[in-house]
Formats: sequence, C-alpha cells, structure tokens
Amino acid sequence: MTTPTLSARGLVKRYGHVTAIDGADFDLYPGEVLAVVGDNGAGKSSLIKALSGALVPDAGEIKVDGETVHLRTPIDARRIGIETVYQDLALSPAQDIAANMFLGREVRRTGPLRLVRKLDTAKMRTEAQRVLDELDIKVKSITQPVETLSGGQRQGVAVARAAAFGSKAVIMDEPTAALGVAESGRVLALIHRIRERGLPVVLISHNMPHVFELADRIHVHRLGRRVAVVSPETTSMNEVVGLITGALEVGENGAVREVEAAVHTGLSA
Ligand SMILES: Nc1ncnc2c1ncn2[C@@H]1O[C@H](COP(=O)(O)OP(=O)(O)O)[C@@H](O)[C@H]1O
Ligand SMILES: [Mg+2]
Repeated sequence: MTTPTLSARGLVKRYGHVTAIDGADFDLYPGEVLAVVGDNGAGKSSLIKALSGALVPDAGEIKVDGETVHLRTPIDARRIGIETVYQDLALSPAQDIAANMFLGREVRRTGPLRLVRKLDTAKMRTEAQRVLDELDIKVKSITQPVETLSGGQRQGVAVARAAAFGSKAVIMDEPTAALGVAESGRVLALIHRIRERGLPVVLISHNMPHVFELADRIHVHRLGRRVAVVSPETTSMNEVVGLITGALEVGENGAVREVEAAVHTGLSA
C-alpha cells in the first residue's frame, strides 16, 4: 500500500452551532490530481483550510507522508511544502508580479547590503520570470502591478507561486470559478503541468467537466464529511451529482446505488 502524501482522519471544526467539518477523512496520494466536490456549504473550503494550516481543527489528525503533523498556521504547512491557492488568491494588488510571487518570503541580498536587509529585486524578478516561463504563463512584464492583470493572469500568478514553492502538494480552492472559458483552459493546463512535475494536486471545483477532465480520483464531500471517493473512469457525472446531493450513495460493494427512502424513515427494520 502506498502511503498518502497528505491524509486526515476524523477532522472536526465547529463555529458556534455550525459544524463546518464533521468527522472528515481525506487522502491525497503521490502524483495524483484529487478533485474535491460538494455543494455550497458542504465544508470543502474548511477542510482544505485545516489541511493548509489556515484553521486549527477541534479534533482529528493530519499526516504528511505517514507522520502526524500539527499545522498551527499556513507558515507551518508551507514549511512542509504544502502550498494553497485560496479562493481570494491572497495577492497584493498594488505590488508587482515578482513581489507577489515572493510575498512573505522575500529574497534578501547577501554580502554587505544584507545589513540593511535590502530586497534582492533583480533576483526575485529573474526567478519569477523563470517560473512563469516554465508554466507558460504570459504577462507583459514581471514589473506590472497585479491589479493591472486579468482575472486569469492573476489566477496564473497565484498558481505559479504555489507551484514554485510547493514541494509536497498544491491545493487549489475553486481556481476557475471566476474565469472565462479561455482563461479556465489555461489554468487547467497549468494543473496538468504541475502534475507532470510529479506534484500531487487537490482541486476543489464545482465544474464537473473540469473535474472529469483532470481528476484521477474524486472525493465527494457532503454535510462536513467525505461520503465517497470514486473514479471518473467508472463513475458518470450524473452519479457524482447524485452523490453530492445525497440521492445516491456508495454501497458496501463499492457500487453507486440509490439511497432507499425506507432507510431515512426508519421503516427498513
Ligand atoms: N469562519 C466561519 N465562521 C462561521 N461559519 C463558517 C466559517 N467558515 C465556514 N463557515 C460555515 O461552515 C460551513 C461550511 O463552509 P465552507 O467550508 O466554506 O463550505 P464550501 O467551501 O463547501 O462552500 C458553512 O455553513 C459556512 O457558513
Ligand atoms: Mg468554498
């Protein structure tokens, strides 16, 4: 059995009376694209926040390469090599592309200038350009403020940043939600390239065609927990939608089946 790169068991997170994560399990295996799907409010974003240190769960366990980890902040997760592209992208609009790529981990000059802790702007620009080129992300200039970029280009910068610094896994929360068809296509191509580099990717998405185009496995999240993991090769889009809404479930034999009304009404006994 392969050890998951990133896994979780029994995660719980409550906000007052709302249980955002209700005993959720999770497994991401080396080299795969895992799609996480579910209705609005199912708890997908909360789950990935727990996996990226942006929230600390009330209960449960997270493992990286089989070792238990305690992620107290996003910096803890980044140190381990888990990079996340949040729904709001977390970019600094007035700063240029290079500065955004190195946000929070600026390259300082070595030598005497280090005393004044001057940023090595030239080095950051060269490196940022190299990463954009490698991922085939086209921008006019690396010194453009991020606020002058299109939605797709901004998404590209956020994804490139994650791909550049991620050594373990890249997590993306709805990366194509705000994009047009052409821009979405470029982000999907980026995810392909990240996988080709051997980095596993967690893709949270509402978009079934995107999920079916990219995912090796599909994790279905409902009411705060994982209710199924299915293969896009053997499961149809309609079946995945049924699992999301709760009309369908995965039976003991692993096959997708209708949920019997009798089970709900307690008449089955
Ligand atoms: N910071 C928060 N405070 C209170 N409730 C929250 C917070 N974050 C999420 N929730 C609630 O938790 C549930 C799951 O939300 P979320 O994880 O954003 O789901 P999804 O990403 O699947 O739409 C929702 O009912 C949401 O309103
Ligand atoms: Mg969300």
